[in-house]
Amino acid sequence: MFPGSLGQSLAGRALRSGLWSLETVDIRDFARDKHRSVDDTPSGGGAGMVMRPDVVDAALASVEDRSGPVLYLSPRGRLLDQDFVRGLAGEPGVTLLCGRYEGVDQRVLEARNVVEVSVGDYVLSGGEPAALVLMDAVVRLLPGVMGNDDSGLEESFEQGLLEYPLYTRPSDWQGREVPEVLTSGHHDNIRLWRLAQAEEITEARRPDLWARYLKRRNEVPGKGR
Ligand code: ADE
Repeated sequence: MFPGSLGQSLAGRALRSGLWSLETVDIRDFARDKHRSVDDTPSGGGAGMVMRPDVVDAALASVEDRSGPVLYLSPRGRLLDQDFVRGLAGEPGVTLLCGRYEGVDQRVLEARNVVEVSVGDYVLSGGEPAALVLMDAVVRLLPGVMGNDDSGLEESFEQGLLEYPLYTRPSDWQGREVPEVLTSGHHDNIRLWRLAQAEEITEARRPDLWARYLKRRNEVPGKGR
């Protein structure tokens, strides 16, 4: 599964040029039996299988670059957001543990100070697609990875707002016109229009982000309108 889509496009180019690197470990290589099993039945009974702590621990111990936090992708984790992503982009490295089956034995999570991270309130069949999501979000913030270094900062989530609507040519498409302000060349008006649109969309679609934005805006002197 790795590097998967991260081997393409900007992230892929950055990977090949050494702006970031990826070390993958197959947990099965650390199994202790001839069937290469990494899981066992849950203590106390119940459905599904649980990943063994000894096998997971040995896999983690084998990681060459163990700088930075160890994260376990799990629907039980703290929700991934742009603040957390930005923090990870500032780490010297990150180790991602991808689980399968019902989950991982609690003891190895505790012993290795593993932080559980979720990419959303839905259940995937394994942690790998979640790890790809997390890596994509982090890698694009690394210095030198994005083509236009501004676009990372301009974006909605960096200000706590959803992005304003975008338009390009043709200025009239099937009778739908690009809003006049955007073709006016008046940069202050364009900036204000975009901010108003971003605010309107955020308030309508994401009351949680909107409440946080209002709170932050009131706390930062000079940020109010
Ligand atoms: N593994 C399974 N579901 C997941 C989710 N929503 N987030 C992170 N890891 C997962």
